[in-house]
Amino acid sequence: MRRNRRTDWSRRLVRENSLSVNDLIWPVFVMEGKGLTQPVASMPGVLRHTVDRIGAAAKEAQALGIPVIALFPQIDPAAKDVTGSEATRPGNLVCRAIKAIKDAAPDLGILCDVALDPFTDHGHDGVLQDDCILNDETVDILCAQALVQVEAGCDIIAPSDMMDGRIGAIRRALDAAGHQDVQIMAYAAKYSSAFYGPFRDAVGSAKTLGKASKSTYQMDPANTDEAIREVALDIAEGADMVMVKPGMPYLDIVHRVKKEFGIPTFAYQVSGEYAMLKGAIQNGWLDNDRVVLESLMAFKRAGADGVLTYFAIEAAKLLNR
Ligand code: PBG
Repeated sequence: MRRNRRTDWSRRLVRENSLSVNDLIWPVFVMEGKGLTQPVASMPGVLRHTVDRIGAAAKEAQALGIPVIALFPQIDPAAKDVTGSEATRPGNLVCRAIKAIKDAAPDLGILCDVALDPFTDHGHDGVLQDDCILNDETVDILCAQALVQVEAGCDIIAPSDMMDGRIGAIRRALDAAGHQDVQIMAYAAKYSSAFYGPFRDAVGSAKTLGKASKSTYQMDPANTDEAIREVALDIAEGADMVMVKPGMPYLDIVHRVKKEFGIPTFAYQVSGEYAMLKGAIQNGWLDNDRVVLESLMAFKRAGADGVLTYFAIEAAKLLNR
C-alpha cells in the first residue's frame, strides 16, 4: 500500500476526492447600523456586517470564486414579535442586504434562510402558542417570507424551520408569483443540536426559547431512517437540493442521503463545529490550515456536493494558492 504514497505526485495521482472553491457556500451575518463590522465573540474570526459593508464582503467572495453567499440577520430586538412579522416586511434587513450584495457582486448566488427565529421575540422558528409551535400557521408566514426575499433578489430559498409541508407550500407560492426559476435548498435533515449555540449568539436569538423545545420540530440526533423520510418528502414536494445539518458529527447521514437519492446534497458545518476547531487552533492544539482543509475534504469524501462553512473565505484562499 505504501508504494502509491511515496511521492507527492503519486499521492495526487491516486487521490479519490477533491475539494475546490466551487464546493463552498459562505454564511454571513448582517446587522443594522452604518459603517460597522462587529466580531461574534463565540466564533473567533467571524464578523457581523452592516448593510453598507456587506457589498465589500460579497465582492471578496466573488473574486475568490465562491459560488454562493448565505445571509443571516441579527434583527433589532425592538422589531421582534411573537409571529416574527418583520420577516415578511419587504424593506427588512435581509432584503436590504440582498440588494446591496446584488449591486456589488452580481455573479454571486444568494441563499436566504427561511425560518422565523431571528425575527420572533421567543427565538423559535415558528409561531408560538401555549408552548407549542403551530405548523400550518407558520408555513403561511414562511411562504410570505420566501416571497419578499425572492422579490428582493434572492436566488436560493433555504427553509431551515423544519415545519411539515413547507417545501411544497413555498414551491407553490413561488410558482404562483412567477418565480419558477428560484431554487429551493431544503434543510431536509436538520437535527435538534447543541452545536448551534454560537449561531444563536451571533443572531441574538439565544436564551429566549422558554418552555417549548426545538426538539418538537427539529430531528432527534439518535435517528437515521427518519432523515431518509424527511429527505424523500422534501424531494417529493419540490426541493432542488437538500442539506444535512450539523455537518461533521452527521457524516453518516450525508453519506446515506447522497447514496439513496443522488440529489445535490449539502452539509452545514455549523457554528459549534467552527467554534470547536477555532478554539483548539487558538490554543495552538491544532494546525489551522491543515485542519480547515481536512474538515472540508471529509464532507466531500462522505458524498456532499458542497459545504456551508464559516471557513469559506480562508479555505478559498488556501485552495487558490
Ligand atoms: C435558523 C437556523 C439555525 C442555524 C441556521 N439556521 C439555528 C437554529 O435552528 O436554532 C444554525 C447555524 C449554525 O449553527 O451555524 N433556523
